[in-house]
Amino acid sequence: MDYSDPKRKPHFLNKVLVAAVLTVMCILVLKQTPCHKEISPFSIREPGVTHVLVTGGAGYIGSHAVLRLLKDSYRVTIVDNLSRGNIGAIKVLQERFPGPGRLQFIYADLGDAKAVKRVFAENAIDAVMHFAAVAYVGESTLEPLRYYHNITSNTLTVLEAMAAHDVKTLIYSSTCATYGEPEKMPITEETPQFPINPYGKAKKMAEDIILDFSKKSNMAVMILRYFNVIGSDPEGRLGEAPRPELREHGRISGACFDAALGIIPGLKVKGTDYETPDGTCIRDYIDVTDLVDAHVKALDKAEPNKVGIYNVGTGKGRSVREFVEACKQATGVDIKVDYLSRRPGDYAEVYSNPSKINRELNWTAKHTDLLESLRVAWRWQKEHRNGYGSPLAMAS
Ligand SMILES: NC(=O)c1ccc[n+]([C@@H]2O[C@H](COP(=O)([O-])OP(=O)(O)OC[C@H]3O[C@@H](n4cnc5c(N)ncnc54)[C@H](O)[C@@H]3O)[C@@H](O)[C@H]2O)c1
Repeated sequence: MDYSDPKRKPHFLNKVLVAAVLTVMCILVLKQTPCHKEISPFSIREPGVTHVLVTGGAGYIGSHAVLRLLKDSYRVTIVDNLSRGNIGAIKVLQERFPGPGRLQFIYADLGDAKAVKRVFAENAIDAVMHFAAVAYVGESTLEPLRYYHNITSNTLTVLEAMAAHDVKTLIYSSTCATYGEPEKMPITEETPQFPINPYGKAKKMAEDIILDFSKKSNMAVMILRYFNVIGSDPEGRLGEAPRPELREHGRISGACFDAALGIIPGLKVKGTDYETPDGTCIRDYIDVTDLVDAHVKALDKAEPNKVGIYNVGTGKGRSVREFVEACKQATGVDIKVDYLSRRPGDYAEVYSNPSKINRELNWTAKHTDLLESLRVAWRWQKEHRNGYGSPLAMAS
């Protein structure tokens, strides 16, 4: 006789149901436990691979440095808050180096100490190239606190995170603005530093913090003091694309190209009564390709317990008037030029003596033809009238 107990059937079904629910829960829990998470190649050390954290890697110089590092087989993590950089530059780099463990981008603000600590905690970083900064002399005189915070305080944050995670090498982006207006030219690394604007002062303070810390640690430090950076990637992959709202504060090359493109009506040259041969300021223009080469050489030669401080310039000064003429020639446009009174915070004449970096890092500027550097940069500008496009459009 087939006998089934009507009370037992629901009991059995309940058991099956509970078992099924428990199984699903177990699978979910297991999936979330760390051992089942995919391990990021950026979080592990790999023999023979140097992992460089590039702050400000979405910006003009930082993006060119990342391109060079990736070409040279480094592993790169970019940290940038895109306040001034371009997600479009990062896309260009990611498209060219899509392989696992080559390039990652972390959107973070260096003013956010917790976020910075997390970056160092979650990634196995060997060296830092610290480019991220606001970097306009004129703007710094209008917003000094912003400059001290962004440059000096954020460098301290980066340094603390490096110390906490035992990251041993720092390449720091400094500037000739830390020298102020020295009496004697050319500027050597021994020239006294008396910066005359908040930008230069904030960088000098950041340098001092790094130097004091280096005395008490075995960190390998390279401080590179750049002169005026121009040019762009000779193969046309990257360029200089500052935010339109920064045009007023902008650098001379950007303004020249904007004038040639008709984006602004003409060029404003500020100051014609300086004590220089043609009355306009004299600067030392260093091509970005040479500059990033100096970074790679500095990284290569950085040694624990040692600090290297180097000027990165060509050693040759060019007047603003000369620059404008070269720009007219490079663009083929007869740019309208207005000569105005001086801008606060500017200094008359600045050019480097690069013999220390020549000697110790075996580095020499190779792209010293101003016209050629401007031609290369102009090619990119002409093809990218809107820079890398709007940041949001590129991000989507
Ligand atoms: N361009 C020059 O002629 C020149 C000369 C001397 C020194 N420098 C130095 O070189 C470095 C790079 O300059 P650049 O011309 O490429 O400038 P840039 O504005 O093109 O790049 C700076 C990058 O830093 C990022 N950034 C700024 N503040 C940040 C923050 N709080 N957190 C995260 N990211 C932040 C910006 O978004 C941007 O991508 C700067 O330190 C600058 O002082 C530049």
